[in-house]
Amino acid sequence: MLRQIDVKITALGALGDGVGEHEGVPVFVPGAAPGDLVSVDVDAPKKNGLYGTLRKIIEPGDARREPACTVFHKCGGCQLQYLADKPYENWLTSRTEAALAQQGLGDVAVAEPVITAPKSRRRVAFKALKAGKSLVLGFSKKQSHQIVDVTDCPITRTEITDLIAPLRSVLTAILPNRKQAELHLTVTASGIDLLIDAPMELDLAAREALVDFANEQDIAAIHWRDQGFLDPVIIRRTPMMDLSGIRVPLAPAAFIQATDEGETALVREVVAACKGAKRVVDLFAGIGTFTFPLAQNHQVLAVEGAKTALEALQGGANFASGLKQIIAKHRDLYRRPMTAKELSAFDAVVFDPPRAGAKEQALELAQSDVSTIVAVSCNPNTFGRDARILADGGYNLKRVVPIDQFLWSPHIELVGVFEK
Ligand SMILES: C[S@@+](CC[C@H](N)C(=O)[O-])C[C@H]1O[C@@H](n2cnc3c(N)ncnc32)[C@H](O)[C@@H]1O
Repeated sequence: MLRQIDVKITALGALGDGVGEHEGVPVFVPGAAPGDLVSVDVDAPKKNGLYGTLRKIIEPGDARREPACTVFHKCGGCQLQYLADKPYENWLTSRTEAALAQQGLGDVAVAEPVITAPKSRRRVAFKALKAGKSLVLGFSKKQSHQIVDVTDCPITRTEITDLIAPLRSVLTAILPNRKQAELHLTVTASGIDLLIDAPMELDLAAREALVDFANEQDIAAIHWRDQGFLDPVIIRRTPMMDLSGIRVPLAPAAFIQATDEGETALVREVVAACKGAKRVVDLFAGIGTFTFPLAQNHQVLAVEGAKTALEALQGGANFASGLKQIIAKHRDLYRRPMTAKELSAFDAVVFDPPRAGAKEQALELAQSDVSTIVAVSCNPNTFGRDARILADGGYNLKRVVPIDQFLWSPHIELVGVFEK
């Protein structure tokens, strides 16, 4: 049964929730900051404690600040925007330390987090819904599929946010009533790449409206994806990424690191860790974010499961000059991880898997003779699990650096350097 209680918040949990205690039971309160005295609604306790809905901040604590964004209280993004800079930075560190401690790696030093600036996100996905004569365009509401209309976004690059109003106009004209679309925008070296995902075929008028929009806004390319079918509406310039001076063609909405600064920091850590190696394997290589900078000094075997990403990497490698040898291989590393024997032919391994981590690959790595392993991860929990596997195989975790590319969100990237 729902009841109201007052709680003093003393810490932040793994997902950034404020954490306090009530009659000896932990209480998790999204939107509360350390130092706050809050009034919350709670239901029956769950496995880890009570989950509270914030009703009122009775006394704000020092860790709190006024969020800059006008839709902060509705939008599902930037959950931690209400935290002041220092408490936010401290949370990034303590979140990383907690994930390591959970795996018995609590004595590993965590470096100062690299935090990307506001207005630096270079890829976003907006949702749009035609409602009568108007159109709602923005992000999902907190814990809901409803869309919060936005006119700006404090974390996203202006090249993207400047397009919100023109996008609204063109989509209002072409989407039928109640039709929903997802808009993937990426800032590339040759301009904006736009992929619109919507379950409808484009008629001639809609196609012409999108072509006019691309010409007026100097968009590099627009693709329309109707239930998986990709329709290249207009390609004015091939979207390209610049990876350490190498131009790589980008497939629509392909994976790239979320910010320039984040990519630079990740590359810096990876390259520094591989110094001295002759042969490096880049596992889960994507379009070659690490392959190309590594290939300035090392032979690189790049292994990737997505054909489009691998083709982009190969496309970049074909025209690159002044680099050491790059070999690109298509392989499903979940079903067929590289074996310890295969890996032992290399001096360093970089692995950057999706959020699920790479348990099977880590088990092979743990048994290899590779002297340096660099783990790049967007999930501290799976990073911790895979780090434990490597530690059990005799690897020492020398350094962990949190890199925050998803400002004010509970997502953290980690780079861990292991040596044997
Ligand atoms: C987090 S991204 C990293 C990409 C790249 N390292 C970068 O920084 O741009 C993870 C990559 O793993 C790839 N991937 C996902 N599942 C895979 C699998 N089973 N085998 C091989 N690669 C896979 C994805 O296509 C994606 O390129």
